[in-house]
Amino acid sequence: MQHADPPVVYGESHIQPRGDYASANPDYTCEQNWQAYTPAEHDRYRRLLARQLQHVHGRACPEFVEALPHIAIDTGIPRFERVNEPLGKATGWQVVAVPGLIPEREFFTLLATRRFPVTRWLRNEDEFDYVVEPDLFHDLFGHVPMLFDPVFAGYMQAFGQGGLKAEGLHALELLSRLYWYTVEFGLVDTAEGLRIYGAGILSSVGEVDHCLTSPEPWRIVFDAQRAMRTRYKIDTYQETYFVIRSFDALFKATNVDFTPLYDTLRDLPSLAAGEHAPGDVQVPVASSA
Ligand code: PHE
Ligand code: FE
Repeated sequence: MQHADPPVVYGESHIQPRGDYASANPDYTCEQNWQAYTPAEHDRYRRLLARQLQHVHGRACPEFVEALPHIAIDTGIPRFERVNEPLGKATGWQVVAVPGLIPEREFFTLLATRRFPVTRWLRNEDEFDYVVEPDLFHDLFGHVPMLFDPVFAGYMQAFGQGGLKAEGLHALELLSRLYWYTVEFGLVDTAEGLRIYGAGILSSVGEVDHCLTSPEPWRIVFDAQRAMRTRYKIDTYQETYFVIRSFDALFKATNVDFTPLYDTLRDLPSLAAGEHAPGDVQVPVASSA
């Protein structure tokens, strides 16, 4: 079998992605190899889970909370096949193991066919609070619960299809900002107040509180064009959060042909993380619509 090469990591990073790419399939999926996890790794997963469950309490959106029992088993790192039974029934999504970060085309191809890549390795003990690359805990705890929601499940598949299209239109940088500000760092307005659905926040110890209560970040009503114009930082808390009204509204706003939007955006200057722009509609911290 032909082996997958490690992906090129974006940005200034010169660190090689962690993970065993030599034993991956050409589409970058691999075996979870569950029996190879050590007791220490199972224990670390349990502690990460227990801590994060307390932090997301009252802060994560109801769709996320409702699906948590499917991944929050207290025996340690779940077998992906076990997660896939209820997940497949709920929305037809499946979790597949990957060695770590994978190239965009393979990533979007998996999403387009309702397969979500989850990194098979867990962070080390000295990375308990913060890990640079996405690991099993971020991918599984942060992303997978939302895939149980039918509307969000459809959004993620559309994202995969849109990614493959954006590649041909040389618009991947624009689309990656939309991913960042929704799938990774999105907030949703609910009758109970602002709630989190972004995986990057939900798997972070500190940002779950910061994003909802700190007076520092700029929280604005979601607009796809505004999000795609906004650069982002990967090594600090976010300075701008986009707030959606509902997952239906998010799906509708993005279920249009982005081709003309990409053309418009290519001629507009990008905005810095945290920059305020004319037309921004601020969402107060204590918002409850
Ligand atoms: N509608 C987008 C396009 O035409 C695809 C897309 C859907 C992108 C949902 C992101 C999220 O390219
Ligand atoms: Fe992620």
